[in-house]
Amino acid sequence: LKRVRTRHFQAAKEEGSPFTGLTSYDMLTAQIFDEAGIDFLLVGDSAGNNVLGYDTTLPVTVDDLIPLTRAVAGAVKRAFVVADMPFGSYETGPLEALHTAVRFMKETGAHAVKLEGGRRSAEQIRRIVDAGIPVMAHIGFTPQSEHGLGGHLVQGRGQAADDLLADAHAVEEAGAFAVVLEMVPAEVAKRVTAELRIPTIGVGAGPHVDGQLLVWTDWAGFTTGRVPRFVKQYADLKTVLADAARAYKADVQERTFPTDEHSF
Ligand code: KIV
Ligand code: NA
Repeated sequence: LKRVRTRHFQAAKEEGSPFTGLTSYDMLTAQIFDEAGIDFLLVGDSAGNNVLGYDTTLPVTVDDLIPLTRAVAGAVKRAFVVADMPFGSYETGPLEALHTAVRFMKETGAHAVKLEGGRRSAEQIRRIVDAGIPVMAHIGFTPQSEHGLGGHLVQGRGQAADDLLADAHAVEEAGAFAVVLEMVPAEVAKRVTAELRIPTIGVGAGPHVDGQLLVWTDWAGFTTGRVPRFVKQYADLKTVLADAARAYKADVQERTFPTDEHSF
């Protein structure tokens, strides 16, 4: 079983063979997704919404993500593990970004880091890559800038497509090995994918990209409230767990659990 490396994403693009990613925040899901052949696992700052109980990703810290990333990296045999750099851990400059990336690499066993921003983050990307750490870039809708962008809005529509292209080229030139395109029109993502040498990874970016990524809790049916339109739910684990909890409670109340077979 060969570990996935950055060159495999590049080769997948060149062969036209799409690759697959999911987020993961713990050892149990990391093991399952790895054994199922998911190519990369992102320990996203979406842990803020899905694990830590925050409304946005903004409060998430490096110290929050280090133990989660260590759990995921320690659980996989094949998948490529990407550590997400949270808000406030790279914006002040390349040196801050490098410090954060080095912490993730030393303390977690992740294989790469991800940070948000195109042209505005190019110097940070370059500095991290120069230190030998692979960087996955992230452009389009960038949740850490939700307030600056005015909400959860599709990016790169109309005239803004040129800005998205400029961001895509900037991260490629800065040395990113791949770039996430979040919530961009399919036609624009197609153009970015055709123009770049490095692979594109879509999250709500349509089918004309080199790889796909979804937040696992959305994908497995845990999301309460509005599920983004680009998510396909592959399971309904929320219902499975809720039914199990109700059945357990009923068994205890009716004294049908535990029985002799569950007792010493
Ligand atoms: O944190 C995250 O899950 C992400 C993906 C949605 C791209 O950054
Ligand atoms: Na993120």
